[in-house]
Parts: sequence; structure tokens; C-alpha cells
Amino acid sequence: MVDEIKKPKRAQTKNLVNKTYLTSDELVEGRNWSIYKRSDFGFVETNSVDLILTDPPFNIARDTNFHTYEGNTINSYRFDKEKGWDSYSREEFVSLLGEWSREFHRVLRKGGSFAVFCADKYVSYLYHALEDAGLSPRRTVTWRKPNAVPVNRSVMMMSSCEFIITGVKDRNSVFNADIDGSSSILRQHIESLLVADKVASIVELSVRQELMSRERGKSVTPVEVSRHVNDVLQKLLPGISKRVEKMYRSKGDAQVLEGCVPNAVVFNSKSGQRLHPTEKPVSLLSYLIALLSEPNALVLDPFSGSASTGEAAVGLGRRVVLVEKDEEFFQKGVVRLKGLESQSVLDFE
Ligand SMILES: C[S@@+](CC[C@H](N)C(=O)[O-])C[C@H]1O[C@@H](n2cnc3c(N)ncnc32)[C@H](O)[C@@H]1O
Repeated sequence: MVDEIKKPKRAQTKNLVNKTYLTSDELVEGRNWSIYKRSDFGFVETNSVDLILTDPPFNIARDTNFHTYEGNTINSYRFDKEKGWDSYSREEFVSLLGEWSREFHRVLRKGGSFAVFCADKYVSYLYHALEDAGLSPRRTVTWRKPNAVPVNRSVMMMSSCEFIITGVKDRNSVFNADIDGSSSILRQHIESLLVADKVASIVELSVRQELMSRERGKSVTPVEVSRHVNDVLQKLLPGISKRVEKMYRSKGDAQVLEGCVPNAVVFNSKSGQRLHPTEKPVSLLSYLIALLSEPNALVLDPFSGSASTGEAAVGLGRRVVLVEKDEEFFQKGVVRLKGLESQSVLDFE
């Protein structure tokens, strides 16, 4: 149970939309969440949203017949194409990026933030569309996925990154980079990442230096490589804890991690049985929500797929409005959030 959530009233997303716009079968609501089955979010009140966190279609189905096999499930981009939401011409897609960005600008409040997922080939198009709509993109986060599926291993680099353009409407946005230990959400989702990132960068650099400094031209066995790695880890251990302690500063009575938040993060992509072929991990979504919004904030995901953003937002005590046009994913999202609501972890009352 999170420790900083104010007791919300039932269905606090209700007053944010113009209900005359909707028919009843398009909407399912729970405590602090609503899912709309629609292909637009024109019903969301202007200037009402604190954070847009969304993963719109990437439009990469035309480029690849890439399939990933997980267990007995086949997840494929061709499947997305068959669903009809990832196969636009470039001109059509760029025009959609403009429409979506203008709507993002309309619904965000001043000082509201956005974090929008994007494939590498469209980063600059989306960045410019957001700027043209009057928003201020700030950093593009590179999300590295260590468990990416190696396809065409001998021909080209595997695709192990996605990109997330973050930014604000106007200024004075929420950015929770200071962690003083009083918030379990910030400790769990931001401090853990910043500390692990520091440790990983120390280890990575030292292992690389050690392996590169081996006698040049001399062939080595895998056993020798692993011995080098082991040696370097042993050498590093005492120094690492000192480096971690140095990340904190005294501020009054508290020890504060004044986090320097990197624009590159490492999270495994969703593995095992997925509800959606491009399902995002709740851990990454929770990190972005914790960093870019306050408890009880209103989060919007207008391309919600399996409602992963809904799970992350409600789990962190935010209110969330989700929009999904596909009947199958809409229903999966409803089942997912109803299932979570029936567990005590989301029962704030
Ligand atoms: C990349 S997927 C999102 C997956 C999601 N992040 C998850 O973790 O499950 C994009 C979703 O947007 C939906 N979609 C596409 N066009 C839409 C539109 N105009 N309005 C609402 N949803 C749309 C698709 O059906 C698809 O489920």
C-alpha cells in the first residue's frame, strides 16, 4: 500500500468529460479510472490533464514482417497491420502526429507534462509536431531493453531501444528529482533507478576497461574472460558503496538524493504472456508517472491498448482516463483494471 495517497472519492474522473458526447457502451468506469472505447479524445475537457503518458501507433508495420515468439503466443507487427492501426503512408502518419499533438496541447493544463513513445524513424517528426502544436519538448528518453528479441542477428543490429519524447505545456511542470526518503513511491520508482544506474555505469566501464587492456592479439578462452570479470567485480565492491553514499546530501535533518535523472533508462520489455503485442512494462510507466506527476494527478492515455498505463497510474494513486478504439483491447483493459480493483492493493477506501 502506498503511503502518500489521499483518500479519493469514487470515480474522480467523472467530472472531466462532457457525457452528452458519449453513449453508455463506450465507457467503463471504476474507482479513479475510466476507459472509453473511441478513436478520439475530443470529449476530454480543455486544460484538464496533468500528464499525458501514451504509446500511440508506431507506423512500422510496413517495414517489417517481424514476428516474436513467446511461449505459444505469436506477437507480430503484421498483426498490428491487420488491426489497421499501424500501416499508414508516411504522409498520413505525419499528418496524424500533428492532429494528436494539437489535441495533447488542448487537453493539457498549463504546467502539464507529456511523455510520448515513438519509434526511431519518427522521433524528429513527432518532436516537430509537438513543437508546432505549441508544446515544449524537453528530452527524448532512450529506453534500452536488455531482453530484446535478436532477429536477423548476423545481418544488422537488433532493435533494443524505443524512444519517449517528454516535455511540457508552458512551464513550472512537476519533476520529482529530489528524494528525501519521505515518499515510498519516489524511493521505489526513482531512487532505485538512479542508484542502480550509478552502480551499473561504474561496473560497465570497469569491465570494459579490464577486458580491453588484456594483452592485445592474444586469444583468450571464455573461462579467462569470466575470470577477468570476476576479478574486476571483486576489486570494485568496496568503492561502489562509497560512491553510492556520495550521491546523497544533508538537507536539514534529511539525507536527500538530489537526483540527476538520466535520459536513458533500462527496463525489460514485457515478457511472457502479453495482453497486447506492443504492451509496455508497468515498471517503466510507473517510473515516468512518479517522476512527472503528483499523487491524485489526472493522467491521460489516449492510445491505451491493454491499459498498462491505467495499472501504473492507479497503482500510484493517480486518476486516469484511457481511450482505446479496438474492442478486443478495450475489453482486455476493462478486465485488467477491474481485476486489480478487486485486489486490496488498489482499495483506498
Ligand atoms: C502501441 S499500442 C498501445 C499499447 C499499450 N501501450 C499497452 O501497453 O498495451 C496503440 C494502441 O492504440 C490504439 N489506437 C490506434 N489508433 C487509435 C485511435 N485513433 N484512438 C484510440 N486508440 C487507437 C490501437 O488499437 C492500439 O491498441
